Amino acid sequence: MGIVSKKMNKQNLMHGSIFVMLRKFVESNYDYSTWMDLLKKVGVERTSYPMHGMYPTDELFAIVHEVAEKMEIPVYDFMEKFGEFMVPDLIEMYKDYLDPAWCTYEMLIYTEEKMHGAVKSQDKRTSPPKLLVTKQGEKRLIINYTSKRRMSGVAVGIIRGIARYYQESDKVTVIRLSQPAAEKVQILVDFE
Ligand code: HEM
Repeated sequence: MGIVSKKMNKQNLMHGSIFVMLRKFVESNYDYSTWMDLLKKVGVERTSYPMHGMYPTDELFAIVHEVAEKMEIPVYDFMEKFGEFMVPDLIEMYKDYLDPAWCTYEMLIYTEEKMHGAVKSQDKRTSPPKLLVTKQGEKRLIINYTSKRRMSGVAVGIIRGIARYYQESDKVTVIRLSQPAAEKVQILVDFE
């Protein structure tokens, strides 16, 4: 029963694009041979992650733990950096779904419906986290992140990356309110 339910949980697999960006991140800090060494170290047999495949979330975590150790930073901090790094590529991949009038605020308001919506409709096997975004006054958004993958660091990093993409880093403050490894994490985004 345990094994069956694990197999059937969509969140045990992640889209190849995330692995492609992880490799790019590792290569931007080190090089290709470091990436290959990391795969060997975690016991991964494959040598590449084709973009349109789905691969185990556990494999992503195993690689992430190794890289964080190599960089001598906590896994959570690595997740934030990785999330921020991914944004320009994520936006490039899904640019057809973007409204040119958007800035950080609108992008966050519409991520669940438009962006993660596009991810799911393009590939039914995916299951991006659930993001409930609520306006609190004119200058604050509250983002409730829910995912069994427990990757709130990536969420915080992506929000920072979006602010950076729109050159609004100096007026956007991102604060995580919940425990980093929780399944449900509340994130405050304040606009100056
Ligand atoms: C440009 C907008 C965005 C695009 C194109 C995008 C795309 C994606 C894709 C393709 C995945 C992999 C899904 C899967 O394998 O099932 C993903 C996962 C994820 N997304 Fe987004 N995303 C966007 C914005 C955001 C925002 C604003 C947040 C945070 C508030 C966020 C948080 C995450 C997290 C944390 C994951 C990792 C998986 C998990 O936690 O379950 N994304 N996203």
